[in-house]
Amino acid sequence: MRLQSLTLENFRNYSSLKLQFQKPLTIIYGKNAQGKSNLIESIYLLSIAKSFRTNNNRDLIRNNNVYTRIKADVAANDFEKELEYFYQFSPKAANLYKSNGQKLKIVEFYSIFKAVLFSPENLDNFFREPEEKRKYMNLLLSHINKDNLISLYQYKKVLKQKNALLKAIFFKQENPSQLDYWNQKLASYGSRIILNRLELIHRINSEISGYYQQISKSDEKLNIEYITTEIKLNKINNQETLEENLLNLYLKYQEKEIYFKKTLIGPHLDDLTIKINNQPIKTYASRGEQRTFFLSLKKVETLLIEKLTKIKPVLLLDDIYSELDDSRRNFLIQMLDSHQTILTTLTLNHLPKEKNMEIFEVKNGEMGRIK
Ligand SMILES: Nc1ncnc2c1ncn2[C@@H]1O[C@H](COP(=O)(O)OP(=O)(O)O)[C@@H](O)[C@H]1O
Ligand SMILES: [Mg+2]
Repeated sequence: MRLQSLTLENFRNYSSLKLQFQKPLTIIYGKNAQGKSNLIESIYLLSIAKSFRTNNNRDLIRNNNVYTRIKADVAANDFEKELEYFYQFSPKAANLYKSNGQKLKIVEFYSIFKAVLFSPENLDNFFREPEEKRKYMNLLLSHINKDNLISLYQYKKVLKQKNALLKAIFFKQENPSQLDYWNQKLASYGSRIILNRLELIHRINSEISGYYQQISKSDEKLNIEYITTEIKLNKINNQETLEENLLNLYLKYQEKEIYFKKTLIGPHLDDLTIKINNQPIKTYASRGEQRTFFLSLKKVETLLIEKLTKIKPVLLLDDIYSELDDSRRNFLIQMLDSHQTILTTLTLNHLPKEKNMEIFEVKNGEMGRIK
């Protein structure tokens, strides 16, 4: 995958920016709060059709404006496309996704441009929040399995409807017998999502330890476990059994769900536990170990996308490079080979000298070429 050019209008602290990417490695250098992460955010938005930093699109619009636009020319082995994202909140709220000038639905737009994000903002949350881990699985799966993306949208829609019904039942406006219909649908989409995630975790587990050991020069074993409420996942091997399990649990917890007015079982609440030598990483790992895990995970993610889509994703490295030690930095540099990379940094120290690269400096939303 190639990112050839990027145009921003009223995006965060950029009023208007036009950037050509001419080298395999692009360094964006700048002091704090100049617009490095904003730039990465805009590029990654084209990949996953939303911001990785905010759920409120209005945050993306430069102060005192009413719209923002991101455009990019991207290319893969067999296509070239101009992608565009447009959002305005006035005079009328609108969210538009386009490819070559044609409007696309969000699920069609998603993942045309394939990218892998390395961000410390991500890393900290990843170990704290189950929600971040679910988001991670959802995003990665959506690059390699469009069916999962569609199930996910349907699941979220049905979940909302079921929760509204639970509320109405609580207030005696509706009858509990109506839950069956929504539970069936939820179990059907939910089981597909869980099975896709299990397969993903299985694929990750089969590769990640090797990279972890290579970076840490240890023989520690890394393992990720998928956690879901009360279902013995090792006994599940098909969708039917999983659906049945979910339906039984909805029944078991029906009273409780009505009381809380929300669905208490399912992939929207599941979690991952990351273990080193069978110890959960959250409680026992050092920051260095967490970084090593993260780099290994990103390596596997990059390979999976490449293997399953035949497209090498563009790597987006926000602010992680300079704080790595030699061993982790060398691993990362090796990884950049054959992937276009956009890397932001606070310092120009330690840059890989032998690489074919260009360097820009960003100051307050303005970009200047240094090299
Ligand atoms: N919607 C917006 N309008 C104008 N400026 C913004 C907006 N959102 C963020 N900023 C500004 O962008 C700057 C942060 O940019 P960021 O890319 O996160 O910095 P860094 O270079 O440290 O990664 C801050 O000065 C912030 O005020
Ligand atoms: Mg930043």
